[in-house]
Amino acid sequence: MSPKQKASGSSHASPSAERREHLYKILVIGELGTGKTSIIKRYVHQFFSQHYRATIGVDFALKVLNWDANTIIRLQLWDIAGQERFGNMTRVYYKEAVGAFIVFDVSRVATFDAVVKWKNDLDAKVQLPDGSPIPCILLANKCDQQKEGIVNSQAKMEEYCREKGFAGWFETSAKENINIEEAARSLVNKILLNDKLLQSNDNRDGDKFALDHKIANGENSRDGGSKSCSC
Ligand code: GTP
Ligand code: MG
Repeated sequence: MSPKQKASGSSHASPSAERREHLYKILVIGELGTGKTSIIKRYVHQFFSQHYRATIGVDFALKVLNWDANTIIRLQLWDIAGQERFGNMTRVYYKEAVGAFIVFDVSRVATFDAVVKWKNDLDAKVQLPDGSPIPCILLANKCDQQKEGIVNSQAKMEEYCREKGFAGWFETSAKENINIEEAARSLVNKILLNDKLLQSNDNRDGDKFALDHKIANGENSRDGGSKSCSC
């Protein structure tokens, strides 16, 4: 297992049954006051407060999911302060993440305008081990409020997400507990899929290595593997 997988996307099967445990690092980013902390508090602690206290730097929360009879998933949620934007620290915070939410506030169009900057920052600073972008879901939060801009059009939002490389989008409300579980499930599904793909690539790389190794040592040649050369 690579060090990357160990820290962020680790998984192991216990010796007994087919029990699997995964630990995934997930980022929650977006402009100031869009509701990142509130979404996490709702998701992890089933709690909401109107009171706004800006996050300083980064906060952490852990959500444990009994995904199916044999799979436990631990989501390590990194709640990154909106004021970290363009700061050098995001490179450190993003390291080894395997999924992300970008959050905007449907009632403040400026927070939607900033989404693309967050996405570019994310894609520039973190990739999956195979170099592809980490799956990222866009959260249109505070959907209990009056909406401003293209979030009023489902079709436009879908086109926007396709164009900008989002794995999907959800209207959410931390206040009314709308769609947060659904969004998280959707992100975990993408992460699991990537995990499987990466593992099968690793296996294929393993086979390729074994073959390359045999060829390099002449073990695959018909003459029984002479390493000498007639020239
Ligand atoms: P930073 O830590 O500064 O980046 O902000 P944040 O994105 O963590 O925002 P936070 O969760 O602290 O929420 C900001 C304000 O919005 C708070 O007053 C919340 O109560 C409010 N809020 C969050 N989610 C919702 C929501 O879904 N609906 C409504 N009406 N208010 C919300
Ligand atoms: Mg916060």
